[in-house]
Amino acid sequence: MRLLALTRLAVLVPLMTAATQKRAVPEGFVTTNGQTFELDGEPFYYMGTNAFWLGLLTSPEDVDATFLTMADAGIKVARTWAFNAINATELPTALETNLTYYQVWNDSDWTLNEGPQGLQRLDYVVSSATQHGIKLILTFTNNWVGYGGMELYIYHILGNTATHDEFYTDPTIIASYQRYVTAIVNRYANSSAVFAWELMNEARCAGDSLPAGPDCVPGSETLTTWYQSQSDFVRSLDPYHMITTGGEGQFYWAQPDEYWYNGTLVSDFNFNGEAGEDFEASLSLSNIDFGTYHLYPQTWYPELDYPGSNFSVLNWGLGWIGAHANTSAYVGKPVIMEEFGVTGLDNKTSIYPVWVGYAIATGHARVHPWQFGMLNLTEDGGNRVLKYTDQIYQGASPNDGFTVYPNQTSVWDVFVAAAIVQDWRT
Ligand SMILES: *[C@@H]1O[C@H](CO)[C@@H](O)[C@H](O)[C@H]1NC(C)=O
Ligand SMILES: *[C@@H]1O[C@H](CO)[C@@H](O)[C@H](O)[C@H]1NC(C)=O
Ligand SMILES: *[C@@H]1O[C@H](CO)[C@@H](O)[C@H](O)[C@H]1NC(C)=O
Ligand SMILES: *[C@@H]1O[C@H](CO)[C@@H](O)[C@H](O)[C@H]1NC(C)=O
Ligand SMILES: *[C@@H]1O[C@H](CO)[C@@H](O)[C@H](O)[C@H]1NC(C)=O
Ligand SMILES: *[C@@H]1O[C@H](CO)[C@@H](O)[C@H](O)[C@H]1NC(C)=O
Ligand SMILES: *[C@@H]1O[C@H](CO)[C@@H](O)[C@H](O)[C@H]1NC(C)=O
Ligand SMILES: *[C@@H]1O[C@H](CO)[C@@H](O)[C@H](O)[C@H]1NC(C)=O
Ligand SMILES: *[C@@H]1O[C@H](CO)[C@@H](O)[C@H](O)[C@H]1NC(C)=O
Ligand SMILES: *[C@@H]1O[C@H](CO)[C@@H](O)[C@H](O)[C@H]1NC(C)=O
Repeated sequence: MRLLALTRLAVLVPLMTAATQKRAVPEGFVTTNGQTFELDGEPFYYMGTNAFWLGLLTSPEDVDATFLTMADAGIKVARTWAFNAINATELPTALETNLTYYQVWNDSDWTLNEGPQGLQRLDYVVSSATQHGIKLILTFTNNWVGYGGMELYIYHILGNTATHDEFYTDPTIIASYQRYVTAIVNRYANSSAVFAWELMNEARCAGDSLPAGPDCVPGSETLTTWYQSQSDFVRSLDPYHMITTGGEGQFYWAQPDEYWYNGTLVSDFNFNGEAGEDFEASLSLSNIDFGTYHLYPQTWYPELDYPGSNFSVLNWGLGWIGAHANTSAYVGKPVIMEEFGVTGLDNKTSIYPVWVGYAIATGHARVHPWQFGMLNLTEDGGNRVLKYTDQIYQGASPNDGFTVYPNQTSVWDVFVAAAIVQDWRT
């Protein structure tokens, strides 16, 4: 098959001159050694997953059952949201529906909810993960509005005429974000169930509500600067746990890829810096321990539906995986394929084995499908709206079209087999 021709790494100025120094960490904490993860001095390979909704579950039994199902499938690292924010107007409904919330915004500030409907639920997730031998990637906020992302900080502190990227530069917003980060990091700093802290889900210059401003453009390195200062900040709070960006892994290349769209040749936003990220630069930061990338060609390229498009979902994905594996080798740090998805069971069944197999074959990528599906949840008759459009329906965890449930064995078994392969490598 034809891969995207991605050979530009050779033209980059070396970003790192020496391998990062290995950090001594407490027993049970995962750390890095070159391109590999290590746990208690041994290489740590794993199969991962995503279940953002763990902290939203109201039943401890459902949390336990989910981790048990993960452990049975061989999963060792799960990624979940360590944020859930609402505003004061939403509070009465949240109280009425038993909705999880960690922050309540009112005017230009928020209060932390450490109560039973707040961080005590995340405490339970962390303790249940510990009991089931699963580690967690905990994310501090979201580029998107879902579950109260970064735009809540912008609306409440700067108002709705600000641009999305002011989040990365406004001192009041940065202080507010760091106050929340401090609460979360201090709460779980001693837990070996924390695999890594994650600065943001899918940081970009633009959001799904607010646009990018003129200061967040290819070459401005706005996100790199923010990743640097925030990873340094987290490191100042916690000397041991790994830290990562949570970015989609977009590149800023001098010669970005191009492709045909409806008869026109266009520059690929995943390679030209337009999204805001510069993957090589952010992976090279001293307190970013490993890199993350996401993979959604169907959603990212509606162009694929036009005649004349000269790439496929499958092959674009392989090129993307290869490019990140190359960057991992070049910078000398691990990368993980932190989210990926295609819609349709047939698409999943044909594409996932190829992507997952290739990612594992590159030697560096640990894979986290988006997203884990759980059946037979007990909560509230199994039909309680969590927030936005996600809900538990007839005992099934939220389904956004990307969810894979245990009954979908043509795909589920691909992941179980990948977990076994990862185990052999350890
Ligand atoms: C709300 O959630 C808690 C668990 O956090 C649970 O104990 C309680 O029964 C729930 N209340 C209602 C009314 O569902
Ligand atoms: C709070 O959020 C709701 C959406 O859930 C929105 O309609 C409302 O305007 C917000 N209130 C404030 C004060 O921002
Ligand atoms: C929000 O702030 C207003 C004005 O300071 C106050 O009256 C109100 O009680 C606050 N709401 C909540 C939920 O804290
Ligand atoms: C965390 O561990 C440090 C030393 O490793 C200790 O000083 C501190 O008290 C611990 N904190 C908690 C909350 O257990
Ligand atoms: C698509 O066409 C462009 C322009 O000819 C070319 O640069 C690119 O490599 C092609 N992509 C694939 C996957 O063949
Ligand atoms: C696709 O190209 C045709 C012909 O040039 C044009 O009429 C149409 O508006 C284009 N569609 C999009 C979505 O760009
Ligand atoms: C990765 O690097 C190798 C060796 O430099 C090169 O042959 C290959 O084309 C690169 N692959 C991608 C996807 O960038
Ligand atoms: C499968 O993928 C193709 C190509 O992206 C897409 O057109 C189709 O809608 C997908 N099928 C489903 C059921 O989502
Ligand atoms: C869910 O429950 C049904 C019937 O109660 C059972 O047949 C099925 O095996 C269960 N599924 C899982 C994944 O536990
Ligand atoms: C698996 O469970 C989901 C969620 O309940 C359901 O929508 C789907 O039809 C089931 N699929 C199979 C193959 O049984």
